[in-house]
Amino acid sequence: MTDLSAAHDAAVTDRARLAGSAYNGDRDLAARQSLYQWQTPRYDLPGLVAEQLGDVRGRVVDIGCGNGKFIQRLRQDRPDLSLLGLDIAPGILAGVPGPVAVADGTRLPLAAGSVDAALALHMLYHVPDIPQAVRELARVVARGGLVVASTNSDRDKAELDDLWHRAAGDVLGVERGPARISLSARFSLEKAPAFLGEEFRQVEVIELPGTITVRDPEPVIAHMASYRAWADQQDVPFDATIDRARALVVDDIARNGAYEITCLGGILVCRR
Ligand SMILES: C[S@@+](CC[C@H](N)C(=O)[O-])C[C@H]1O[C@@H](n2cnc3c(N)ncnc32)[C@H](O)[C@@H]1O
Repeated sequence: MTDLSAAHDAAVTDRARLAGSAYNGDRDLAARQSLYQWQTPRYDLPGLVAEQLGDVRGRVVDIGCGNGKFIQRLRQDRPDLSLLGLDIAPGILAGVPGPVAVADGTRLPLAAGSVDAALALHMLYHVPDIPQAVRELARVVARGGLVVASTNSDRDKAELDDLWHRAAGDVLGVERGPARISLSARFSLEKAPAFLGEEFRQVEVIELPGTITVRDPEPVIAHMASYRAWADQQDVPFDATIDRARALVVDDIARNGAYEITCLGGILVCRR
């Protein structure tokens, strides 16, 4: 069990895998982002982040900006801000409106105190040395500046973990198959305040609970299949498990009229 989670941690933070496979384009990230359109209540996450930046003027850096969902929104809502997107995966930056650069969150190419706010959204769990990335956030943000981070709870989408156990078990012919890899476990909503509290005097957690309800299995299966970059970590044939999961969701929908997933994400608003 310990070995399995250590191997999972190494795979979740492996730069070659992140840049070359998981985020070499935005297909898999977009599949995960788009599942939230079936969530109640619906949170406008880019709008919530823009709201937190209400008093910020000047320079904002989005570290691990991915496909630029937040940068695009800020360009629209806050044309006064000077925005910079950074990510370790060159492939995912292709469609992001510039300026953007390839950079690592643990070694930011920015001078001390040179930005008025920094975003680290759903990315700190991928960083091998989380305390070092938090120190870098604190270093580059000017005194009085703001950091907004985000992540998911350890309890987020527990139904998908259970679905994976069931599907993997059926594929392997055992009662309960191996665990699905957890991307956010290293920096979950429960762990994040302690990491951020090392460098920031104030850390406010805004929880965003909700329920995703679908009547078509495909968005759920696309979310599950978006973990394909970690297929070799699963100790079960990946595609066969995805196919079995689809059949189980089809059954659940036939029986209950819908398939539900409980979600808990959150944003952390930090001040130095
Ligand atoms: C789950 S995506 C989140 C993207 C975006 N922030 C969002 O919330 O939609 C994680 C992103 O962090 C990037 N990333 C992972 N490790 C990183 C690191 N050490 N430095 C900078 N970016 C990193 C990945 O390449 C990926 O684009």
